[in-house]
Amino acid sequence: MHLRALKRRLVATAARRYRSAGPFAYHFARGKLGGDPVFAALLARRLVPDGARILDLGCGQGLLAAWLAAAVERHRAGEWYEGWPAPPTGWSFRGIDLSRRAVARATAALGAGACVEVGDIRAVAYAPSDAVVLLDVLHYLDEPGQRAVLGRALAALAPAGVLLIRIGDGDGGLRFRVSNWVDRVVLLARGRGFAPLHCRRLRDWIGVLERLGCRTDAVPMSGATPFANVLLVARPQ
Ligand SMILES: C[S@@+](CC[C@H](N)C(=O)[O-])C[C@H]1O[C@@H](n2cnc3c(N)ncnc32)[C@H](O)[C@@H]1O
Repeated sequence: MHLRALKRRLVATAARRYRSAGPFAYHFARGKLGGDPVFAALLARRLVPDGARILDLGCGQGLLAAWLAAAVERHRAGEWYEGWPAPPTGWSFRGIDLSRRAVARATAALGAGACVEVGDIRAVAYAPSDAVVLLDVLHYLDEPGQRAVLGRALAALAPAGVLLIRIGDGDGGLRFRVSNWVDRVVLLARGRGFAPLHCRRLRDWIGVLERLGCRTDAVPMSGATPFANVLLVARPQ
């Protein structure tokens, strides 16, 4: 199957789960999964291993779990792109998010196939995990909060585990300013006013992870979006 056709099937399969969670959840899932390159990259690079205990910190409406489940479904149906490895199977998913509404949407969409809880990732306990995911979340925490969350994520990670973090690169010029502006509009729309955002330059994020004992690969992850996003794939050394 052609890659573009597979991506369309994956978006449709994953988004279908959100129909029961209401029109916003459904259209948001379609838009985000269709437009954000990080979801395809997780499959293309097989960044989540088979049988992984996934801990998604700041999981929003649980799009990652819906996407991985869609990948398993399409692959089992014989619909796959030959340039991609088989999708991960046998994983379990635990998501945590501050937003009650996002967690309600995740629960409606994912059902018993996932465990999604309302909580503050600065406070809740982390279960042992093989993949800890932080997509577009860390800049909401102040710098001590970021270091504490990353330290605890690494402490929860199995020795061969992986930490998947997406950040906006503060050195990214106009593209970075666009993502920052979009984040501020989203905060305003969510009624959080002018809450501060705590962004860093890519090299500073890598430095933080190095000091925590990680080897980190930085993968550009903006795709066709106007943002300065980077996926950090960090592994304990
Ligand atoms: C930009 S969204 C990303 C959602 C999800 N990771 C994704 O990629 O679809 C950021 C999420 O982080 C959550 N968040 C921010 N601070 C948090 C905290 N301290 N504890 C838990 N969730 C938090 C927000 O509620 C929001 O759902």
